[in-house]
Amino acid sequence: MDRLKGKIAVITGGCSGIGLGTVERFVAEGARVLVGDISDAAGAELAARFEGQVAYRRCDVTDESQIKALMDEAGSRFGGIDILFNNAGAGGAPNRFEDMTGEAWDSVQALLVRSVALGITYAIPHMKARGGGSVINTASIAGTQAGYGPVAYSTAKAAVIHLTRVAAADLARDGIRVNAICPGLILTNIFTPAETVSPGLATLIKQTMAQSAPNTQPIEKAGVPADIAAAVLFFASEESAFVTGTHLLVDGGLGVGPRNSWDPEMRAERQRVMEERRAAFAAAQVEDVQAG
Ligand SMILES: NC(=O)c1ccc[n+]([C@@H]2O[C@H](COP(=O)([O-])OP(=O)(O)OC[C@H]3O[C@@H](n4cnc5c(N)ncnc54)[C@H](O)[C@@H]3O)[C@@H](O)[C@H]2O)c1
Repeated sequence: MDRLKGKIAVITGGCSGIGLGTVERFVAEGARVLVGDISDAAGAELAARFEGQVAYRRCDVTDESQIKALMDEAGSRFGGIDILFNNAGAGGAPNRFEDMTGEAWDSVQALLVRSVALGITYAIPHMKARGGGSVINTASIAGTQAGYGPVAYSTAKAAVIHLTRVAAADLARDGIRVNAICPGLILTNIFTPAETVSPGLATLIKQTMAQSAPNTQPIEKAGVPADIAAAVLFFASEESAFVTGTHLLVDGGLGVGPRNSWDPEMRAERQRVMEERRAAFAAAQVEDVQAG
């Protein structure tokens, strides 16, 4: 409690999932929060729920002028920005390179990378007005390894990790720290976008994911927004005062290595295959000796 007392935060994508979980945690820790999102009804509800502590402004993070307006509103409404959580995002098609178009590529990069760069750019004067600040960018485990997301999405998230380092170097002398978090599998609406998934199918997908999520990684529990919010809080607070330019995987250990390093069933299967192989080699040796 009170770890962010008196702090002013801007959170993009704060109406759902990881962003919403972070709004709730920041409010509990004493911050005032300006949420930027394109989900107006949810934004209005959020502002009413936390009246006086949370404000909502529509901000499509693919639109430069709307990003600037969001940061400027934090300045005029609250007096500056201490914490910026660049988090808005979506999965983005296509899954494979053979289905790629220039337009699809550009729209994913605009949503996931350009938005982060411009968020930082337009927050700088408002952070300087407060004597410095902390920026946290949402990357992904998909930005560290292949196979965890669509190709344009994964490439964009890798860019966010490097953008974080570059920005940290650029802004340290202004008292601004910049770090990234890389969530693993977190149960949110990102897997069931309303534009392409019907409500019935969305419910089914969510139920299936909730059942299977605990077995997705070494830590046997489903990842939830509060898990990410706790890590964002660390980067936002003074407890990370000596940390900048880094990224933290918050993934239940998903990134530790191949599945057979932690899944008991796969370990047993691997053991069985190794024993079969050993037996085959031993039999071949016996044959060699007999022949030789
Ligand atoms: N859920 C996961 O497993 C996971 C894993 C790794 C990274 N992430 C990242 O976490 C971030 C948050 O995703 P989530 O899982 O909470 O999803 P979510 O769908 O629950 O929330 C995303 C939020 O971003 C908003 N948004 C989407 N496009 C926007 C735009 N153009 N402008 C402003 N707001 C916009 C949505 O309205 C929504 O409120 C994303 O950057 C995502 O890539 C999620």
